[in-house]
Amino acid sequence: MISIKDNLFLLQTARMSYAFAVGRNNKLIHLYWGSRLEDICEVAKLKTQMDCASPANSLFYLEYRGQEPYDFMEPALLPIYDDGARGARLVYLSHVVENESLRVTLKDEHYPLEVTLVYELFGDLDVISRKAVIRNCGETDIRLDSVKSATLNLPPIAGNYRVTHYSGEWGAEFGVNQCELTQMQLVMENHRGTCASHQHVPFVALDAESAVTETSGDVYFAALKWSGNFKISIEQGYSGNVCITGGINDFDMEWTLKPNESFETPALCCGFSAGGFERMTEILYDWQLDWLAPREKAHAIRPIIYNSWYPYLFDINETNLTALIPKAADIGAELFVIDDGWMPKRVNDKAGLGDWVADKSRFPNGLRPISDACHAQGMLFGLWVEPEMANPDSDLYRAHQEWFLSDPKRPNFLKRSQLTLDFSQDCVRDWAIGWLDKLITDLQLDYLKWDMNRYLSEYGTDHSMPIRYIQNLYAVWKSLNERHPNVLFENCASGGGRADFGMVEFADRINRSDNAHPKDVMILHEGFSRLFVPKTAGGAGNIAKDPDVPLPFRIHLGMTGSMSIGIDLLKASQETLNELRAATAYFKIVRADLQDSYVYRIASARQHPYCIWQYVRRDRKSFGLFGFAHGMREWEHCQQPRFKMRGLLPDAIYTTEDGTSYTGRELMSIGLQLLFKRQDYASFFKFFK
Ligand code: DGJ
Repeated sequence: MISIKDNLFLLQTARMSYAFAVGRNNKLIHLYWGSRLEDICEVAKLKTQMDCASPANSLFYLEYRGQEPYDFMEPALLPIYDDGARGARLVYLSHVVENESLRVTLKDEHYPLEVTLVYELFGDLDVISRKAVIRNCGETDIRLDSVKSATLNLPPIAGNYRVTHYSGEWGAEFGVNQCELTQMQLVMENHRGTCASHQHVPFVALDAESAVTETSGDVYFAALKWSGNFKISIEQGYSGNVCITGGINDFDMEWTLKPNESFETPALCCGFSAGGFERMTEILYDWQLDWLAPREKAHAIRPIIYNSWYPYLFDINETNLTALIPKAADIGAELFVIDDGWMPKRVNDKAGLGDWVADKSRFPNGLRPISDACHAQGMLFGLWVEPEMANPDSDLYRAHQEWFLSDPKRPNFLKRSQLTLDFSQDCVRDWAIGWLDKLITDLQLDYLKWDMNRYLSEYGTDHSMPIRYIQNLYAVWKSLNERHPNVLFENCASGGGRADFGMVEFADRINRSDNAHPKDVMILHEGFSRLFVPKTAGGAGNIAKDPDVPLPFRIHLGMTGSMSIGIDLLKASQETLNELRAATAYFKIVRADLQDSYVYRIASARQHPYCIWQYVRRDRKSFGLFGFAHGMREWEHCQQPRFKMRGLLPDAIYTTEDGTSYTGRELMSIGLQLLFKRQDYASFFKFFK
């Protein structure tokens, strides 16, 4: 709900309020962000305090910073005008409310520049989206050296905030990191150009550590919907004033606004949990499932995938794939995906990338017979592509060198033997839409796995390229989504490189990591599932090789996300095939519940040699309990703690598959004794309904 009265603006969600006001000298001043207030009058005193504060102190709480005199915190906006003057001195001009959105327009006091701050609500959900639209109302160019989405001011607290962020690398994504914020500027950013999450997920959470746990206390969080270079700065001044400034990275970028042009930033969305980190995760799941992912309704259940990558790598051909299809159908796979390796000369990563036709020598009849064979077996059919890249040894590169990112005088840097197409060029965007659309249609694809396997090293001469690249990338995804509403899309970037909230609205599955080793997945999935809906957690095969790990352990891990099988079914023993068949059959019974669940880390693999994850259906009517142990010491087997469940309805009855019933209260107060088998890689799954 949006309320406006006497220059006060109050945005309310179920359990959060956010307020600002037109203050002294017409400056827009932030007043409040935190637990829900009932009435706009409750922030009126804050406005009076701000109006009486010294000019310097009121600068601490600017709603959108434009480098005011004596404001030394990170500006969100840094324009440079034609006479060389810098910065914005923004004052309130007007506002308009439309449905669930509020647009407040500010103007510079001296230069022809307007900034519209856009606030959008998601029903009652405790998240508000913020972005800025910058408009050149003059007759000469304005250069934007920095153009962030929002400034978010946090309430000053006694002591320091703790910052939680998620960082990592290829094969080690979603690491959970925490540190104390003192009087400093802490910057999280990405310089890789086309993706962020192999450096930092564009997301941050702040809490007052002493009062906050997994299940209690106030957590403020911000998620940026941008997949390219980003910067989130968290800053604390001497007086304890704290603000987050986030958006497109100002590093090595420049955007020129011509007269009458505007620039719209990506959204920086802010949320609040009064129930610790677990409630934060619940809010993030609801946001994705109910709001961000419009395709969710058509694709609520993720099919069980068989993928060729782990068992065959580039060694695929019509013969082995055709033999695999009935085997995959027989073990219960619902979607058969051909991964990398289907193009001409693509027998390793040195050639063929960019030429999006099937290799005649290995697929003499093309891929359509394979698609038809999958459909005849009742399976969906999917294909891997990497549209942003090509090997120099490809017809595409030979024909269109001008489409590739390069520096005028330096040789291009090769990574994985590949170069990057310049998606900032509109002709490249249109080419990508054209061939992908045709490929999906011609091959009757039900699934497209979009991969991206290197970062940018050449930036060319146009400093707006990194921004235009991502804008065009999103345009391609949007167009494919619209043209093919029934096709499932996977967002893969060497694993989880592009796992971010910008991509959530386009992709139904996220490749969590190329690291599918079960002992690492125990940790990776905890980081992933703090932010992203677990049913989107993919990978080429989360039930893959790793013969040292018992198959049930791998199957249980596969059940925690979007199940995919990457085992060589042509060589697998009958016993393995039987086990896989039984596993998929069982998973199909509990899948709808698990895939609409919140995840509670009852015991974390970051603290123990085991983890216990409770998947509670969002309507709280059922739950699944996963346990994974690796490297347990003997004395840990002797301890027999009771684990208290969370998030259940106290009076509801939950019954296990062997018929034992518990009240929710019993499960949450007394808990369950959960024992692991005395073996390495022990696991269990229990289902309560
Ligand atoms: C990286 C992806 O993460 C893998 O799943 C696989 O598709 C390979 N690329 C193929 O080259």
